[in-house]
Amino acid sequence: MKSNTRSVLFDTDIGIDDAMALLFLHYAPEIQLLGITTRFGNASVEDTTRNALNVVEHFKLKVPVFRGAARPLAARLGEGFPAHVHGNNGLGDVDLGEPSLKYETMNAAQAIVDNSALCREQGKRLSIVAVGGLTNIAHALALDGLIIKDIEEVIVMGGAFGYNGHRGNVSPVAEANIASDPLAADIVFSSDLTTTIVGLDVTHEVTVDEAFLELLVKQAGEAGQFIRDIMRFYLEFYFGINQRRECPLHDSCAVAYLLQPDLFSTIKNPVRVVTEGIAIGQTIHSDDIRRFVSKEWENIPNSNVCIGVDADAVLKLYQATLARAGSSCS
Ligand code: RIB
Ligand code: CA
Repeated sequence: MKSNTRSVLFDTDIGIDDAMALLFLHYAPEIQLLGITTRFGNASVEDTTRNALNVVEHFKLKVPVFRGAARPLAARLGEGFPAHVHGNNGLGDVDLGEPSLKYETMNAAQAIVDNSALCREQGKRLSIVAVGGLTNIAHALALDGLIIKDIEEVIVMGGAFGYNGHRGNVSPVAEANIASDPLAADIVFSSDLTTTIVGLDVTHEVTVDEAFLELLVKQAGEAGQFIRDIMRFYLEFYFGINQRRECPLHDSCAVAYLLQPDLFSTIKNPVRVVTEGIAIGQTIHSDDIRRFVSKEWENIPNSNVCIGVDADAVLKLYQATLARAGSSCS
């Protein structure tokens, strides 16, 4: 294993764009994927865990799957699961059958704690790519707050701050992952974890169309065909919204930040999350200019908030990485 390899856990509510991000991680040569932790979100935790097992089995990822949270810590925005976005099974209703693999007996929160310790024993630090809400990470912090020193970074696909004109997608101000467990997100962003937030501000700038997917079919073998097949449902959902068959690569942007952070511009500010009322799930960063009356952002560590992205470079990185699936080097 090369010395600059990053040890990574993928925490996910594996849905359509999550699956694209997981394959992005898998085919990235500088990543050592230690495991997948699942939770509810795009579908029930039963379905997201089955989806994770199916992708692992189908594409021979050889990583353990740890089942996680079936519900939020406290109130969330809405109820049920967005079958209109990710299909009834969470993978655009593409049926991969019942996996023969089983998920681990250890739960997701314990797996985060144990993998942090494993990395420490190996003189490394763990990175977590969290693309489906932060319930498992909040549970892990409650299990063992000392993991903070063993975790290099948590890269979160979630939130929205209004940059580039992008705000909420499940309310005018709230993004789906954060709104699925606002309290967990507020706990994580208020902790001493080194956190980068890859919100709708930048993910809505990175969109793919049918031509991009056809290129993956040509270059990425079975992985490209699978992505094209599951993305059909997602494209139709976004066509229904804006009459264009284009959709944002939400979760893959978090992976792109892990691989090449310089493709993003960021600011560092304390971030809080609204946990009740009509703005539940809203992410709000303070600024370092004004002295506000409110004390709610005082003594909160900075998060790294993505406010800009080189979208073409992210798409090229995705395409080049997935092309490894079609070549002998995968
Ligand atoms: O708001 C987009 C996020 O919600 C993505 O992670 C998508 O997979 C859904 O979980
Ligand atoms: Ca997701």
